[in-house]
Amino acid sequence: MSYLITGGAGYIGSHVVRALRQAGETVVVLDDLTTGVRARVPEDVPLVVGSTLDRALLDATLAEHSITDVVHLAAKKQVGESVEMPLHYYRENVHGLQTLLEAMAAGGVPRFVFSSSAAVYGMPDVDLVTEDTPCVPINPYGETKLVGEWMARAAGKAHGISTACLRYFNVAGAATPELADTGVFNIVPMVFERLTQGAAPRIFGDDYDTPDGTCIRDYIHVADLADAHVAAARSLAEPGPVRDLTLNIGRGEGVSVREMVDLIAEITGHQGVVPEVTPRRAGDPARVVAAADRITKELGWQARHDVRDMITSAWAGWQHHRPEARQG
Ligand SMILES: NC(=O)c1ccc[n+]([C@@H]2O[C@H](COP(=O)([O-])OP(=O)(O)OC[C@H]3O[C@@H](n4cnc5c(N)ncnc54)[C@H](O)[C@@H]3O)[C@@H](O)[C@H]2O)c1
Repeated sequence: MSYLITGGAGYIGSHVVRALRQAGETVVVLDDLTTGVRARVPEDVPLVVGSTLDRALLDATLAEHSITDVVHLAAKKQVGESVEMPLHYYRENVHGLQTLLEAMAAGGVPRFVFSSSAAVYGMPDVDLVTEDTPCVPINPYGETKLVGEWMARAAGKAHGISTACLRYFNVAGAATPELADTGVFNIVPMVFERLTQGAAPRIFGDDYDTPDGTCIRDYIHVADLADAHVAAARSLAEPGPVRDLTLNIGRGEGVSVREMVDLIAEITGHQGVVPEVTPRRAGDPARVVAAADRITKELGWQARHDVRDMITSAWAGWQHHRPEARQG
């Protein structure tokens, strides 16, 4: 099998590249390097620099490397930015995906794994979010992921492409310090940044209807997430009819923001720091925790790393990329 990984120079994509190679697979990366980093792609992995919007480039890449499997991670992912620039998000995430699926259909590529997100669920009012919980995204980013799932499934059915839509919950950690997330868009790096600056970490609202009043999320180690992609791709390749999988990728375990902040403070040597509680942010649901049993049943995959592993590895990555944090 020969894999094309779009967005393979990104945070999660580079972990997927690593996991597939460790599983003995042949991999090619296509990335426009808008947020990706060339150095994340191993030197002996071909890197095609370009966009999923470039149909001619996609046709040539699929043919030249005899691609049998596409893992599509290339996308814009910032919720706030998607509210300000919805058309850009629809263009990159939806039109980019459409162009890719058209190229796959024309080139007869039989398998597709899609990076979806728990953002498709919006504000789920359930204890555990199953794959059958209604999808009601509340921002353009989540909408592009839901439209993407619809498009992938429909194109899969019509053109004989087996598909797996993987709904990631909150991704954290790093397999190696070099591959760590360098953006500051979610709780772990946001708390690192505040602590590194000598400032109190922020908690957005502690008056939610949860045991400690702060929001509850389900965190998944990026190395576990990458392994789930290998399991999904392998499963699609089993002989049989065209497949259509939709799977949550989480641990099925809720961790509150306050628990997370306390654990980060402890692991980074900032015990006793008192977080600053600010008003709620718009659009933050109280609790989003995955029902994570379908993927275990379907693929035999299960997360191996806990939240402590995620924070410890992310902190090593933070210090690697920001030398000033080492002195702090
Ligand atoms: N990080 C998370 O917590 C999270 C959660 C749920 C879903 N996801 C999804 O996972 C995927 C990867 O996210 P990430 O955190 O690694 O982000 P990232 O920004 O690090 O990676 C995205 C990669 O795609 C590339 N890219 C973007 N648009 C492109 C295009 N049109 N053509 C070619 N390359 C393009 C970027 O250069 C980058 O390397 C995204 O689809 C994202 O929506 C991420």
